[in-house]
Amino acid sequence: MKTSEQLDHLLKMRAEARMGGGRKRIDKQHSLGRMTARERIDLLLDNGSFEEFDMFKTHRCTDFSMQEKKYLGDGVVTGYGTIDGRLVYVFAQDFTVLGGSLSETFAEKICKIMDLAMKNGAPVIGLNDSGGARIQEGIESLAGYSDIFLRNVMASGVIPQISAIFGPCAGGAVYSPALTDFIVMVQDNSYMFLTGPKVVKSVTHEDVTVEALGGASMHTTKSGVTDYAASSGTDAIEYVKKLLSYLPQNNLEAPPIVPTEDSPERHSEELNAIIPENPNAAYDMKGVILSTVDDGDFFEIKENFAPNLIVGFARYNGMSVGIVANQPNYLSGVLDIDSSIRFCDCFNIPVVTFVDVPGFLPGTAQEYGGVIRNGAKMLYAYAEATVPKVTIITRKAYGGAYCVMSSKHLRGDINYAWPSAEIAVMGAKGAVEVLYGREAEKVEDKAAFLAEKEQEYQDAVANPYVAAQRGYIDDIIEPGRTRFRIIKALGVLKNKRDSNPMKKHGNIPL
Ligand code: HXC
Repeated sequence: MKTSEQLDHLLKMRAEARMGGGRKRIDKQHSLGRMTARERIDLLLDNGSFEEFDMFKTHRCTDFSMQEKKYLGDGVVTGYGTIDGRLVYVFAQDFTVLGGSLSETFAEKICKIMDLAMKNGAPVIGLNDSGGARIQEGIESLAGYSDIFLRNVMASGVIPQISAIFGPCAGGAVYSPALTDFIVMVQDNSYMFLTGPKVVKSVTHEDVTVEALGGASMHTTKSGVTDYAASSGTDAIEYVKKLLSYLPQNNLEAPPIVPTEDSPERHSEELNAIIPENPNAAYDMKGVILSTVDDGDFFEIKENFAPNLIVGFARYNGMSVGIVANQPNYLSGVLDIDSSIRFCDCFNIPVVTFVDVPGFLPGTAQEYGGVIRNGAKMLYAYAEATVPKVTIITRKAYGGAYCVMSSKHLRGDINYAWPSAEIAVMGAKGAVEVLYGREAEKVEDKAAFLAEKEQEYQDAVANPYVAAQRGYIDDIIEPGRTRFRIIKALGVLKNKRDSNPMKKHGNIPL
């Protein structure tokens, strides 16, 4: 071949690889409201930054006449590029090629970029859209999945791993995204389940749709598997990009500083009046978060799962933080925040905790549901975290919930309370019932007696001053100054060093 012919041949091969499974299948993908793998990569990465690997790789299977069904690239597009100038590795499953099904060589391509990401300390982003294990390859495909799972586990806590689900993700294939740090799904156009509706019907006789069984709504409200239900593929990609902006490249780096015009000194006068007169009245903790963070910009995670607890990322004077906050607007539901705190701890992201919690919910539903185990997880996550921990108690911090929510005793670094804080073993009503219940039976006006005792209790213990006298609270602060005080605290903790005893790993209750 002449040099010019060689070049033509290369361009022809490239063009062929870029067409994936062909025009008809690309059109079908579009008709379903879905982008192709390459369109997703184009949208995700900075213009012109994508460098592709293994474009010419093909499978080696000859069973079921597979030698006649070879596509350049074998159904997954892999490589690296940048997002806002920062290096990321990416793979995008191409549904137009054999349903994006995973073969031995497909897995090798993914493993190659995961290994490079680990060596070079950069995040891996997986764009999933696949019919699962390539049926024609059988065990080879399962081996390929397992090779990826192992890498997901080894990379966990070393580099951020983010999964976006744009179409099917079924069977054991779900475990790779499930092992990653964040999952985003496209509403009404993607699903994740171990067994599909047909198998469910044959085994349990349940009639269930794909959406109800494993759609984005289900996974963001019921199972908690997914962090965000995107309104479209484009929205999912925007979410991934924004999420990355809060994260460092790997566990040895600090998160990027993003300069802001929002003054650290900005006073939030409205916070001085946000706590209602009635101690049992609700208010929106998101209002507290929004008025203290940079530019009122809060990136919430798992917004619709256990809404009694708010988690997400934000910045204070440019510094990334993970935020954990009780939401007095929603009182029910178990507390389940351990994973967020552990993620922040892996990646050197300080945790800011806003506390207003009347305790753990009592009752059989909670006890049967494992509130002890879930509470223990949370406690474990806060206690083992060595990143800077700043805590603001706005109102109630009762009982076990006081201990758990980043208290001084679990190595909270800087713990502040608002003057409205009530820090006590339990609420006045419960406490008085236990202490004076019998005595109340003997007096004439039981209600007045109990009300008086409740007031006494409230005045004596349900305030921040007892905790401040002990040093469990470092200062009682003016609510309007919260932003400034958090920024000062994060600044002084910037070089914090803390560690845990040497061990293979702890045994967090799962
Ligand atoms: C090989 C596959 C495939 C697969 C789809 N295709 N899934 N080829 N292996 N797993 C092919 C189809 O034959 C078809 O080829 C093309 O991809 C598009 O598929 P359609 O069925 O036409 O698309 P659609 O109607 O949109 O249905 C999508 C689907 C369905 C729901 C995903 O394809 C499906 O049910 N596939 C099988 C899913 C599954 O059971 N996978 C195994 C799960 S178990 P042509 O040539 O006609 O275009 C598993 C184990 C992993 O994954 C274990 C890890 C530990």
